Amino acid sequence: MADIIAETDRLILRTIEESDAAEQYRLLNTPAVMARLGGPKELHEIEAKHAKAIQWYATRGFSFLMLVEKDTGELVGHAGIKLVDNPLAKNQGDHEIGWLIREDRWRRGYAEEAVRAILDWAFGRVDAPQVVALTSDLNVASWKLMEKLGMVRREDLDFEDPNFPPEDRKTILYSMTKDQWENAQ
Ligand SMILES: CC(C)(COP(=O)(O)OP(=O)(O)OC[C@H]1O[C@@H](n2cnc3c(N)ncnc32)[C@H](O)[C@@H]1OP(=O)(O)O)[C@@H](O)C(=O)NCCC(=O)NCCS
Repeated sequence: MADIIAETDRLILRTIEESDAAEQYRLLNTPAVMARLGGPKELHEIEAKHAKAIQWYATRGFSFLMLVEKDTGELVGHAGIKLVDNPLAKNQGDHEIGWLIREDRWRRGYAEEAVRAILDWAFGRVDAPQVVALTSDLNVASWKLMEKLGMVRREDLDFEDPNFPPEDRKTILYSMTKDQWENAQ
């Protein structure tokens, strides 16, 4: 049974269950959603990520979550907290937040609503000293969201990631401390 981590006006943020991989593959793994994330994944890749997230939640008490739309009960996104584990990143082990929203629900404020709840979780129960977010330089929607949340651009942490297509290799970072989050409220 999933744990409900947070509830917002329109969303329930809950932990991942085994059956979610197939639903994520069907609803969230579309070319538009995955365009700056290396393209759509195979089902087994999503299953492997979910298995890791379930294990992380069990051992660390945080992980990526499923976003469920209250009105319909449908899966509309995937977002949460992990630890930076890209071997090329300069800030291994920092708390990293990330997100994606189903294409037919874009521009309704769902990402912002979910991520605000995730930041409360990160700086509350999870007790992270700071969080970072990574994205492709070309992922304007994602870094504009980071800026809207009050995150600070960290050019010192940027890196090139050859595991992505050439146009998405420039990985840019933003960060936010607990004080910065509290002062932005
Ligand atoms: C990035 C993403 C999660 C935004 O989701 P969303 O629910 O549409 O975003 P919201 O409606 O909550 O928008 C919040 C803010 O984000 C920014 N934003 C979102 N979409 C944007 C776009 N297409 N262009 C520019 N800014 C955008 C804006 O600052 C917006 O605030 P505003 O509406 O006041 O302008 C969504 O576009 C997505 O899933 N993209 C594909 C997956 C992905 O790349 N994830 C990030 C990986 S690092």
